[in-house]
Amino acid sequence: MCGIVGFTGKHQAAPILLDGLSRLEYRGYDSAGIAIRDGEKETEVIKAKGRLKILAEKTDHGASVPGTCGIGHTRWATHGEPSTANAHPHRSDDGNVTAVHNGIIENYQELKEKLLRKGYVFHSSTDTEVAVKLVDYYYKKYEGTPVDAINHAMVRIRGSYALALMFKDYPEEIFAARKDSPMILGTENGESYIASDVPAILKYTRNVYYIGNMEMARVKKGEITFYNLDGEEIEKQSRVIEWDAEAAEKAGYEHFMMKEIHEQPKAVEDTLNSVLQDGSLNLEEMGFTEEIINNISCIYIVACGSAWHVGMTAQYVIEDMAGIPVRVEVASEFRYRKPLLDKNGLVIIISQSGETADSLAALREAKEKGVRTLAVVNVVGSSIAREADHVFYTLAGPEISVATTKAYSTQLMASYILAIQFAFAKKHITEEQYKDYIQELETIPGKIKRILEDKERLQWFAAKQVNARDVFFIGRGIDYAVSLEGSLKMKEISYIHSEAYPAGELKHGTISLIENGTLVIGVLTQPELFEKTVSNMVECKSRGAYLMGLTGFGNYNIEDTVDFTVYIPGTDPHFTASLAVVPLQLLGYYVSVARGLDVDKPRNLAKSVTVE
Ligand code: AGP
Repeated sequence: MCGIVGFTGKHQAAPILLDGLSRLEYRGYDSAGIAIRDGEKETEVIKAKGRLKILAEKTDHGASVPGTCGIGHTRWATHGEPSTANAHPHRSDDGNVTAVHNGIIENYQELKEKLLRKGYVFHSSTDTEVAVKLVDYYYKKYEGTPVDAINHAMVRIRGSYALALMFKDYPEEIFAARKDSPMILGTENGESYIASDVPAILKYTRNVYYIGNMEMARVKKGEITFYNLDGEEIEKQSRVIEWDAEAAEKAGYEHFMMKEIHEQPKAVEDTLNSVLQDGSLNLEEMGFTEEIINNISCIYIVACGSAWHVGMTAQYVIEDMAGIPVRVEVASEFRYRKPLLDKNGLVIIISQSGETADSLAALREAKEKGVRTLAVVNVVGSSIAREADHVFYTLAGPEISVATTKAYSTQLMASYILAIQFAFAKKHITEEQYKDYIQELETIPGKIKRILEDKERLQWFAAKQVNARDVFFIGRGIDYAVSLEGSLKMKEISYIHSEAYPAGELKHGTISLIENGTLVIGVLTQPELFEKTVSNMVECKSRGAYLMGLTGFGNYNIEDTVDFTVYIPGTDPHFTASLAVVPLQLLGYYVSVARGLDVDKPRNLAKSVTVE
């Protein structure tokens, strides 16, 4: 996610802003910038693509940009490639408003068209520049205060934002506004601070204010006034931050993995909202017209690791909904298999990093054979994103933990969106089904949140698995695809041997491995396959297995068979992977923690495998 900082006080602003941004680097970014105001002089904006040190060198570590008021930003691209032009701060052409932003303006296209009609010009492809010029437009139109102008903009903007803005008419002051994206403010010894997160200002103050949703602030030197959406002043109590810097980067969670598991509801919601407009899905921005969709004869999904597991789920969903044949391939096999591809096929490459060597090679193999390609990636401007014909960006934000969680979940959401849109375009589902599926997708984030509320039960169960030698995850259909991901989570961070098996396949060899007390986890979310999998679990139980059942609320009769049950909220059977995976992520996490292992950086693994 982007990081924002702001400062106004007695000291020079630039060094403080650069220092604050350096403490937000963990959030991931691809460019950075600062804007400094020196009294009545024109605001100076300096931006640089790449690492923060480039910006620091450009400003002589802040020394070459005098001024005691300023804002700064590290950008994680969501709209527009990583570049200096797209880097923040952005400002109106006359320098009236300069701002930095963390979040996503979902309706930025319609707002941009409105501003273009009003004579504004744009120099970047970012949603942020639109927000800045919208505030400028209202400031001039209503000739009010900055708070009035920001207020008008907030009413028009749909999406999420943490905004820090400077106005030419208000030297030495900063204004802030927030909806959904994180922001804190602080004061100390006659100086004031703004930041996306605690680490950026912990060195200067532990007295912080949490600005609420749809609230604004006027930040003067050592004095902050808060306003609600009616423009009325509101009182706020400051809080004292007890965290140390490292704990603050993880927002108080012990590991990035747990933080990212908890970011899944928002990441999944942002990914859905990025293509949801007035209750329908719009893939036009990715270049997927109805004509292109209707010419797709078959789909090849190619990926590695967890991304491949997403493909395994997507295969069931797309084939069942859209009636398009889907073949799922491990990228490292695909690239050497001399694949026979249908010219009218579509190759979908799924990759969080967009840099996985095998997946990139598979993409190039597909392009060499003249087949249309779509990349589902999380990193804007990554190699796979740049080389594919179409790109569907997941909006998980930077994923720090090696074991993927939120990126996997956003890839699942992306695959549902494609399945539904393809099915509707091919008239494989009715308009009513189309709307119903979309409405059900909108409930997924809340259902994930509901599961996270019961995480302590899994922590208790995980503590009992610390000395397990083998763990088996079994399921049928989508439940098998989920088992694959649950098994990978377990083995990659707890180092316990684990296997995922199609439940019906156990008796063809693997069941010989079941011993007294072997943990067998049955994933049971597919109504038509429920009884079949239960009987496979009973086969394991009769050989001494300890059974955990993972199923929807209401299937309470399972407790007659299994030793431990985890329930998840109900949803359409096509979408159950998004819910069933969460307890399995937590199980792997807690077992790893109980074993005292380095959860975020497991041995032998890299976050992105950029070599063969
Ligand atoms: C999963 O927890 C691992 N981090 C790994 O399997 C990962 O999914 C795989 O390496 C693919 O990475 P990518 O999505 O960046 O291409």
